[in-house]
Amino acid sequence: MKLLVINGPNLHMLGKREPAVYGTQTLAEIEAELRRKFPEVDFEFFQSNHEGAIIDRLTAAKDAAGVILNAGAYTHTSLAIADAIAAIETPVVEVHLSNIFAREAIRRESLIAPVCRGSISGFGARSYELAVRYFDEEQ
Ligand code: DQA
Repeated sequence: MKLLVINGPNLHMLGKREPAVYGTQTLAEIEAELRRKFPEVDFEFFQSNHEGAIIDRLTAAKDAAGVILNAGAYTHTSLAIADAIAAIETPVVEVHLSNIFAREAIRRESLIAPVCRGSISGFGARSYELAVRYFDEEQ
């Protein structure tokens, strides 16, 4: 099974970025742990700080069984990313390290949630793992 894991803006800063909110693991460490925990999954990892690059990657995701997307702050602002998710047939699971519903009002709204298969929020790096488990069990 091939899964595409997309991380949006500022997630390349994990480890250094607000560790009290996002934890101390770097994105590379989170990715390595996913590969270690799910050796049967063929992962492709992509990170970009640019909305258009995320859209390009999403709409080229035809060969993946699923997409795991942490759109970062674009979650709350990007109708364009929501449109891209709606435009593709590949199921997308929204993930967040922090519990966005326990944070500032602007973060409690997700423009992408209505077009995603489901959302996982608040479990730190385990949010990604739970999303992989969903796709693993769907297969
Ligand atoms: C985040 C939550 C967003 O509100 C924030 O802008 C991020 C990270 C998370 O993983 O908790 O960049 O998506």
